[in-house]
Amino acid sequence: MASSHRAIFFTILLLLAVAAAATASSAGGSPLSPYYYSKICPNALPAIRRVVEAAVSRERRMGASLLRLHFHDCFVQGCDGSILLDATPTIDSEKTALPNNNSARGFEVIDMIKSEVDKACGGKPVVSCADILAVAARDSVVALGGPSWEVQLGRRDSTSASRTTANNDIPTPFMDLPALKSSFQKQGLNERDLVALSGGHTIGFSQCQFFRNRIFNETAATIDAEFARERRASCFAGSGDANLGSLDGSPARFDGSYFKNLVEKKGLLHSDQALFAGGSTDSVVKGYGSNNGRSFWFDFASSMVKMGNIKPLTGNRGQIRVNCRKVNA
Ligand code: HEM
Ligand SMILES: *[C@@H]1O[C@H](CO)[C@@H](O)[C@H](O)[C@H]1NC(C)=O
Ligand SMILES: *[C@@H]1O[C@H](CO)[C@@H](O)[C@H](O)[C@H]1NC(C)=O
Repeated sequence: MASSHRAIFFTILLLLAVAAAATASSAGGSPLSPYYYSKICPNALPAIRRVVEAAVSRERRMGASLLRLHFHDCFVQGCDGSILLDATPTIDSEKTALPNNNSARGFEVIDMIKSEVDKACGGKPVVSCADILAVAARDSVVALGGPSWEVQLGRRDSTSASRTTANNDIPTPFMDLPALKSSFQKQGLNERDLVALSGGHTIGFSQCQFFRNRIFNETAATIDAEFARERRASCFAGSGDANLGSLDGSPARFDGSYFKNLVEKKGLLHSDQALFAGGSTDSVVKGYGSNNGRSFWFDFASSMVKMGNIKPLTGNRGQIRVNCRKVNA
């Protein structure tokens, strides 16, 4: 009796393990592969890395800007390079959507990468702009001292863009936890992905207009008073909309200080602090803020792969753009 129960128990365990493995392989089992270009253009990835490294050494912030471009690409129609398309009578450019207008940057670096990567591939456009964004995001994080990961490749480029979707689906800095969670859930990303990926704010800057209300109006219950006072020295009540504040204390270093800041109520954006404000994500934030960000690094890398898998165009859908700003003629 006991042994037959045990047999059933282990059979169930085995079935669960098989199911889990199948789920994992279908999640990672998008048609993308890290080796997609190893035969058709083995020099593609080194070419991308060279341009990213040069751009980041010219201006450290560019690493942050390139990471953000991939995020804003993936949340709108999937990771399909749609954010790169300029406006035309038939292209509803995402560049002027609220979260991007006078905010998203790095488009010239992407153009430079595209031109170098085409040269490295024998003068032919074989690497998609969507893949360039994914690789540039990884190389940027590495250039600023963060973790590395194998980038899944083989995405193709969209022939359309959607300003409306960009306005609706890219989360805003004024959101509370439930809205942030549902924004990420809509993309197939869970609460842990939300926290890990928000750690992207360990690098880069925000304009005053996105955190003004927080530093002037929020109370000591949610913001450290000294931190708010310091930030008011360069972000004023009635002016300085575009003045920059660093998202954490070391905006050119990919470290764990973003999460330590949150535990001290020193998140810059309302949406940052929402991850540590007495809700269900508090414990994850605390964990990432301890042990020098090691567990954060690991989870960030795996959530970046997951984000990069959002609705890629593969097979004969989409195209490989000749110019990342334009649909092919
Ligand atoms: C969770 C929801 C998120 C919200 C509400 C949000 C919001 C913002 C805002 C308002 C800015 C400042 C933009 C400006 O001042 O022009 C910003 C910057 C940035 N965001 Fe996010 N973000 C979120 C998630 C992410 C994710 C998932 C990543 C990447 C994994 C990311 C990476 C960045 C980076 C690197 C910057 C700095 C860019 C630069 O300095 O050019 N953010 N974000
Ligand atoms: C985008 O910003 C420019 C200023 O650079 C402004 O003139 C334009 O109206 C903005 N577009 C939208 C759609 O908000
Ligand atoms: C503070 O909040 C009030 C009421 O919502 C708003 O009118 C005011 O503009 C806010 N102040 C700043 C500096 O954002």
